[in-house]
Amino acid sequence: MMNAIKKLGMLALLMSMPMLAAASEAGVHLDKAPVNLGDNASLQRGAKFFAANCLTCHAASYMRYNRLADIGMSEEDIKQLLPEGSKLGSTMQASMDPGSAKLAFGVSPPDLSVIARARGQDWLYTYMRSFYADSKRPSGANNLLFPGVGMPNIFAPFQGERELHVENHEGHETGKLVETTPGSMKPAEFDATIVDVTNYLVYMGDPSSLVRHKIGYIVLGFLLFLFILVFALKKEIWKDIH
Ligand code: HEC
Repeated sequence: MMNAIKKLGMLALLMSMPMLAAASEAGVHLDKAPVNLGDNASLQRGAKFFAANCLTCHAASYMRYNRLADIGMSEEDIKQLLPEGSKLGSTMQASMDPGSAKLAFGVSPPDLSVIARARGQDWLYTYMRSFYADSKRPSGANNLLFPGVGMPNIFAPFQGERELHVENHEGHETGKLVETTPGSMKPAEFDATIVDVTNYLVYMGDPSSLVRHKIGYIVLGFLLFLFILVFALKKEIWKDIH
């Protein structure tokens, strides 16, 4: 009896864990990332942005350049993204070595191969759009979703510089990011770019999902074909009995 009660208590604790984890996210609302793994044009734009802007510091060492053929890139397209000295079959390595990166930022930039599985797509989409200028930080930047983040605001040239304005509504403080200098992209254009990057990160976390989906359709098509065949057979067999 005691044991059963203990087990129930344990079960209740386990069931409440996801809630506890969600509550510890400092109450920041996550924006929904409208990713679409079927949209090759978006995945390709995401891959290009990723190669040009993220691989300076981060690696994606489970990902080989030639796999980008999965999202419809030709060998020529892929060669454009290759850093000096890399081959089509090379994995995506950071241009900065982890030691110097740690010295520069205080933390090593983590490998991003499976970051979408660790953090989730909505978290990533919100994170990349939550940077703001903060002179108290060594990098000059902070992040609403990731307070005290070691990553500099590499999005500022595109999104513009933003500042945190804290508003007090009857004792309730809410933070709002307000643009101080515009970037090269309009807000909607920047959001669309970050959708593309998120889409790419989700694809990279599970590249074979594209192949699985294709196989799924083939299997469903085959089952449909089989159903029609069996149905015709049934008609044929029963036609003399009625
Ligand atoms: C100038 C170097 C630099 C560049 C460029 C950079 N990052 Fe980072 N990034 C970092 C560092 C350093 C951290 C670690 C931050 C920490 O843990 O405080 C980080 C952390 C992250 C995290 C959080 C990881 C986690 O779960 O803890 C994500 C996601 C991320 N970067 C994505 C990106 C993407 C996507 C790009 C390109 C659009 C990018 N970064 C470009 C330096 C960089």
